[in-house]
This record gives sequence, structure tokens and C-alpha cells, in this order.
Amino acid sequence: MRSEKQNDLEIDHVRTTVAEAMVTGGHDRKKRTQQDALRSLLDIYRHRSDLKKAFPEAKAGDYVRLVQWAAWVSANESSDPVFSILHGYEQWYLPEHNLHLFQDHNPALEDVKMRIHDGVPAFVKDIIDVAEGLHQCGTFGPEPLAALADHLLKRHIECSAETGSGASTLLFSHSSDLHLAFTIDSGGGSVDNVKISPLLRQDHVLWIEGPTQLTLPTYRFQEKLQAVLIDGPHAYPFPDLEYYYLYQHLETGALLVIDDIQIPTIHNLFEFLRKDAMFVLDEVVDTTAFFTRTDAPTFCPIGDGWWEQGYNKTPLAQV
Ligand SMILES: C[S@@+](CC[C@H](N)C(=O)[O-])C[C@H]1O[C@@H](n2cnc3c(N)ncnc32)[C@H](O)[C@@H]1O
Repeated sequence: MRSEKQNDLEIDHVRTTVAEAMVTGGHDRKKRTQQDALRSLLDIYRHRSDLKKAFPEAKAGDYVRLVQWAAWVSANESSDPVFSILHGYEQWYLPEHNLHLFQDHNPALEDVKMRIHDGVPAFVKDIIDVAEGLHQCGTFGPEPLAALADHLLKRHIECSAETGSGASTLLFSHSSDLHLAFTIDSGGGSVDNVKISPLLRQDHVLWIEGPTQLTLPTYRFQEKLQAVLIDGPHAYPFPDLEYYYLYQHLETGALLVIDDIQIPTIHNLFEFLRKDAMFVLDEVVDTTAFFTRTDAPTFCPIGDGWWEQGYNKTPLAQV
């Protein structure tokens, strides 16, 4: 087992090297790599409230535990959604600075794990815990919520939108710089209870209250969207109508989530999207489908061309 002194020495070493890495204008390749690794890590830190909560000292420039967390994630010892980003810098996070991090009973690693709860951000756990009792309109179950968190945290989201509201809104408020909630409280508390939840980051949510059938057609989107969830009114043709007003604003790489695909008319939208060039299906969790916007051109929203759409390529043999 390593002594506290060994550990302190290791921490001092990390601190010194991180400080060196921050010096700008270094020309050798190694220093550039160090700077890139640290820059990426700090960029993730800036956008992750769970990391800010777990490693508050990093705000004051003490990156030791944060770098050790990055080493742990980049070595794929944790299932954190930013693994693929950090893994690219594993060579820097891991061998030079955390050589002994993965020895049994390493106090540094134990501390990192305790602070971050096995890679599932603390706020996600908290939101999953409150979801069921949050409102009476039918909320996401734990698995779809965890999957939504996973997909959201993989992305840098400047602007997102959802129809309907609830536990999903709490999650979006932690993952998006600006989240547009097109919703209405039909008495079940899906707006009122979310607004007073301590888990809501209020300054990240813009509430556009009213029936989406009326609010979406008149809303003037100022920015591209990096994530959209359709989970408002479920009767036909409302989710399709919402899709129409939202798909035009999705950026390449954006997340599109369709909930309740067991409802026949929503299933039809799901089947349409599965065959559309603008989307690839990432996964279905329970009855929630997760798509990613491809770089295919945006289908003209004011023209026609039904025959170009994958779903319509083969007309029905008989009706
Ligand atoms: C199934 S719940 C959404 C659950 C939410 N995604 C969650 O994670 O808890 C459906 C939501 O759509 C809202 N809603 C129903 N009809 C609506 C309409 N016409 N326009 C806007 N929102 C509507 C409901 O009030 C409710 O907030």
C-alpha cells in the first residue's frame, strides 16, 4: 500500500506539471500535448456541474484530483460519457502523472471515486431519484433518463429544445447553455413542480408555455439546436407537427429523442426517421428512441419531394 507521503509527492508532481502545461507559447510537441490535454479537461469541467461540485478546488487552479479523475476515466475504468474525448489524451493523464493510480487501495483513487460516484454524475442520480414523484403526466423511467443524460453529456449543447416538461427538463438544464421548454402544465405539476425543484438550473431554461400546436409555429428560433426531445402532446398529428417545426433547426451531430414510440402514430414517426437520410438511430431504451442528425442536407420544409424520402422510396404494393 502506498504511504500518504508517496501520495503527497505524486500530487505535488501533478501540480507542478499541470502548472508547466499552462505556460503558453511552448514549442515542443510534448508541451503542446499537455496544454491540449489540460484545455480539453478544463473545457469539460466548465460544462459539467457534477465535476464542479466534485472538484471545487479546480476553480482555484488546483487540478490534482481532476487530472486523476481524467486518468481514471481515460483508462476506461469508469463509464463516463466523455471517455472518448479524454481517451485521446490518456498518454498524458495516465503514465506520467498517475503511474500508481490504479494500485489497490490507492487513497487518491478512492477519493476520486467517492467524489464522482462511479462515473454517473451526482446530479443525474439525484434527478433519477426524484423523477417518479415529480409530476403526474408520466415521466421517463430510470433507464431512459440515464440514457438521455449519457447522450446529452457527450455533446456540447449551446441550445436545446423539448416539448412537454418534467424530469427531462431538469436534465437539460444541467447539460445545455440554453434550453427551450415548449410546454403547458395541464394540472399534473409538470411545469409548476419542475420550476420549484432545487435540481433545476433555472437560468438555463426558457419556458414557452402554451399548447405547442400554437407556440411552435410562431416561435422564432435564433440559434441552431444540438438536442431536441419530443414528448409533449401524444395524439396524432401533434408529435409530427412538432417534428416539422423542430427538425429544420437541428445541427449536424444533434440529438433527436422521440418518446413513447409504442403509440402507433408515434411509431410511424419512428419508422420514418429510421429510414431518413437526416438521421441514424443510436439506440432504443424502453420506449424512447435516440437518433443523431447526419450531415445530409435539411429536407426543404416548404417544398415537396416525398419520393426522395427513404420511408417513401418503395410505395405500398396495395392499399
Ligand atoms: C409525458 S409528459 C413529459 C414528461 C417529461 N419528458 C419528463 O421527463 O418528466 C407530457 C408533457 O407534455 C405536456 N403537454 C401536454 N399537452 C401539451 C400541449 N398541447 N402543448 C404543450 N405541452 C403539452 C404535459 O403537460 C407534460 O408536461
